[in-house]
Amino acid sequence: MKLQTFKEKTYSLDIMYHLGTYENSIHFIFDHESKTCAIIDPAWHADLFINYAKDKGYKITDIWLTHWHGDHTNAADEIAQKTGAKITAGINELPYLDIKNDLATVNDDDVINLGGTTARIINTPGHTAGGICYLLDGHIVAGDTLFVYGAGHCSLPGASIKELYDSMQKLKKVDDNVMLHCGHDYGCKINTTMAEQKSGNAYLLLDSEADFTSFVQGMSKGLVAYPTEALTLKEVKAML
Ligand SMILES: [Fe+2]
Repeated sequence: MKLQTFKEKTYSLDIMYHLGTYENSIHFIFDHESKTCAIIDPAWHADLFINYAKDKGYKITDIWLTHWHGDHTNAADEIAQKTGAKITAGINELPYLDIKNDLATVNDDDVINLGGTTARIINTPGHTAGGICYLLDGHIVAGDTLFVYGAGHCSLPGASIKELYDSMQKLKKVDDNVMLHCGHDYGCKINTTMAEQKSGNAYLLLDSEADFTSFVQGMSKGLVAYPTEALTLKEVKAML
């Protein structure tokens, strides 16, 4: 397991990589002042996460979900039961989520707080119907919506290529210097900024819905290779 920490003014972001069957990345937001922790998309190893926060002197009070897929949620109930943490998810994801504990819902542009740390919600449907990203000071946690030089598939219930295209247009508006953090380490590198992705991620480069659709459909038919590195728009169009 690889571990990274980013220290910001009000919070630290710790990331555990390559956990569980699908090698998920698990994100911890530690609010310095309140000593509380929000864990984003906890899956596979509830006790590991609870003890990791406890050993640092923090209490997990919040579980923030990006989308319903089990590899992002399968430890949420256990952590909620063991810590009393509140679970939050996007309102449009409710019909799909398999969560036993109470859920708080958020919608586009809502701001949620963890002590003195705030996160803005960006609704980014496409990979799922109600997927959301959490935008914090300097970092965005995007679940499976956007990967390093890639993006999530549109092959499970609730997915929509058109909505994924629209979500990409929204993500292009995130500040260039914001670091992108993803649900899986599928790209050629782990650390990247939105500026890098805007200039080299095929899903952000394609600027017509028709091209975007044929790109994603071509991938599901095996005609287009899934991108893991920076491409130019010309290179992406040559793949269509
Ligand atoms: Fe997913």
